[in-house]
Amino acid sequence: MHVFVTGGTGHSGPYIISDLIAAGHQVTALARSDKSEAEVSALGARVHRGSLEDLDGLKAATVNSDGVIHMAHRQDLLPSGGLNAVAAAEVEIMLAYGEALAGTGKPLVVSGSIGSPGWEGLGRPATEEDAALPAGDAHKGALRIRNIVETTVIELAERGVRSSVVRIPPVMHSATDNAGFLPLLIGLAKERGVIGYPGEGSNLWSAVHARDLASLFRLALEKGAAGKAWHAVGDEGIPFREIAEAIGSRVNLPAVPIPADVLMLPGYFGFLANLVTLDVPASSLITRQSLGWEPAQPGLLADLDNGHYFPAG
Ligand SMILES: NC(=O)c1ccc[n+]([C@@H]2O[C@H](COP(=O)([O-])OP(=O)(O)OC[C@H]3O[C@@H](n4cnc5c(N)ncnc54)[C@H](OP(=O)(O)O)[C@@H]3O)[C@@H](O)[C@H]2O)c1
Repeated sequence: MHVFVTGGTGHSGPYIISDLIAAGHQVTALARSDKSEAEVSALGARVHRGSLEDLDGLKAATVNSDGVIHMAHRQDLLPSGGLNAVAAAEVEIMLAYGEALAGTGKPLVVSGSIGSPGWEGLGRPATEEDAALPAGDAHKGALRIRNIVETTVIELAERGVRSSVVRIPPVMHSATDNAGFLPLLIGLAKERGVIGYPGEGSNLWSAVHARDLASLFRLALEKGAAGKAWHAVGDEGIPFREIAEAIGSRVNLPAVPIPADVLMLPGYFGFLANLVTLDVPASSLITRQSLGWEPAQPGLLADLDNGHYFPAG
């Protein structure tokens, strides 16, 4: 297949491009700068020079491909327009793909998020069949946005697009994770001299290795049914306290409980507060059974033991 990939220079993108090429696919990657162009070329991809702002360019690259994997996101809009602006832009991009792919049956696989508002309190791990809920002001902002985008993607199936969403857990980890939540937590711990966890730290975080995520995107592209949500879940639910303790033991800092009212204060966990309290265990049983996906990489705690998150010096 000839696959158009966006976000090829991010954390997950290089794993996705490499996995596709290793499986015999051709890749054309979106690149918006000379630096990005060099990075995706080095991975063996052809280049579509352009950006997410150029919807006509995205449509042209899509028409010229056999399918699309969309990993890029407009985080640049956050400071000026907030979460609603990000959502609006993402929806426009999805509709542009929809125009280019309508009636073709070609695949469009888009990154989504584990942790839909309303899933907390399910009393069981969330499954692929739990719908993304519509927007609502009471819900956590970043997740609300993902729901709008997910719903738009799933609805493209009704227009003859083999569209699907791969929901990604709060932690995507790998040896090249420089800007995800683990490096942020490690940096915060070093700054404060302790690593905190909320209350008893029993809230559960799911996780996936970026290499396993890549193989799932490929399987969804190759054989996933239209209108489905898949779960890129390697670790179903790790108590946050265990993550804090694993980080603490590597940096020789104590892991300590932080009362809910303190961790919400500006300056403690800051914008991470909503995340560290997240309690959304998730299953990937349906994904594994439907697509034959089997995560093969180390789980989150084993990956923290590999040491690449704690370079010497
Ligand atoms: N735990 C997680 O990490 C997690 C959880 C849930 C969902 N997700 C979602 O999964 C997706 C991939 O995550 P990631 O961590 O791999 O991404 P990332 O490291 O943040 O990389 C972002 C990518 O988007 C590209 N990009 C940003 N703005 C662009 C624009 N205007 N035009 C063209 N390209 C643009 C960047 O290209 P440049 O190199 O040119 O900047 C880069 O390749 C994202 O949508 C993310 O929100 C991640």
